[in-house]
Amino acid sequence: MFSDTQINHFRNLKTPFYFYDMGLLDKTLEEVKKHGLSKGYHVHFAVKANFNYKILEKMLDAGLGIDCVSGGEIERAVEAGFQPNQIAFAGVGKSDEEIQIGLNHGIFSFNCESLQELEVLNELASQTGKVANVAVRLNPNVSANTHKYITTGLHENKFGIHPGRFSELFNLLPKLDSIQLTGIHFHIGSQVVDLQSYRQLCEKVNEFQNIFEENGFQLRHINLGGGLGINYNSPDEESIPDFETFFGVFEENLEVRPGQEIHFELGRSIVGQCGSVISKVLYIKEGVSTHFAVIDAGMTELIRPALYQAQHKIDVLTSDKSPLVYDVVGPICESSDTFRRGISLPEVQRGDLVAIRSAGAYGEVMASVYNLRDRAKAYYSDELAEKVITN
Ligand code: LLP
Repeated sequence: MFSDTQINHFRNLKTPFYFYDMGLLDKTLEEVKKHGLSKGYHVHFAVKANFNYKILEKMLDAGLGIDCVSGGEIERAVEAGFQPNQIAFAGVGKSDEEIQIGLNHGIFSFNCESLQELEVLNELASQTGKVANVAVRLNPNVSANTHKYITTGLHENKFGIHPGRFSELFNLLPKLDSIQLTGIHFHIGSQVVDLQSYRQLCEKVNEFQNIFEENGFQLRHINLGGGLGINYNSPDEESIPDFETFFGVFEENLEVRPGQEIHFELGRSIVGQCGSVISKVLYIKEGVSTHFAVIDAGMTELIRPALYQAQHKIDVLTSDKSPLVYDVVGPICESSDTFRRGISLPEVQRGDLVAIRSAGAYGEVMASVYNLRDRAKAYYSDELAEKVITN
């Protein structure tokens, strides 16, 4: 995964830092184009997964749109060069100011999550003399078979409008003059690896679309959200998710009306495997029966293990000694600041470099300055290559 030249360069950089493999990102985007865009599907990159300008530039060049969940993300997308008609805006708790940002830009779609939000959006739009495009996010009660913190499509979750409210919704919509219903939106969860969940989603979408049509609402677009998972155990063997099968599920199971647009919002599957956290071993410490490898990255740089019990692969970059079993832990004053327990790694010592893999999505964007730590920098393989050549 990492070349000797890259590792040598890493030795001169202050750790921890994020490292992005831009070649892999290019290849991943080629697959999205080949299996998704080529079918006429619209793919919005979920900027919540990674908001770096260099990454967004790639998404723009590849012809992707953007999926936002805050006013800040809308502004970031516009600054990065996306057209407002490429921007979808979701979220259960849009503030008035954030709605205003979306209205000012005239975005593609407000993905509305409640009846009250529709009323508020209508009022704010009418005050500014605009008509907002709206997709209603519906709760399909489909399990994503993923961690409960990132499950969003079940009735018990806070997301989307429950089918029990559809008749109220159908009564309300014609009364709201400053919004126009253009579509329906779904997102069942994240890190979804069981594609059966998407087949079930398609069934629900077909059912809901019929109900909308029976009530006089034709849908210009359907937005299926994102969620496709990545292989955290084998990032090198499966560095690019199987987009062919993913998009194929929708091609096979979704009842698309003539001229209807199909949209997706993918984050992790596009950018997850291209990022790593590069960290240095600070100390080796013996417990009662545990070797601790204390590294200089912590939950401040990658919170996923602490928050979702996620297991990221760890590669040792600078040792090929015989393996030992370690608990790899960070420096933060919490026991949850543990990357892996009981993993076998080549024996390491103070100063060795490790890479925590599959950190391109929900790594840097979820960083914090807890314990008043410095923010880690980001480096990109293409820039690093230039630096190596010119140095
Ligand atoms: N669309 C909506 C409405 C979403 O809420 C999300 C993610 C996505 C699209 C993109 O999902 P993706 O394709 O990236 O799975 N921090 C968590 C993941 C949170 C996902 C939130 N919503 C993690 O590190 O696993």
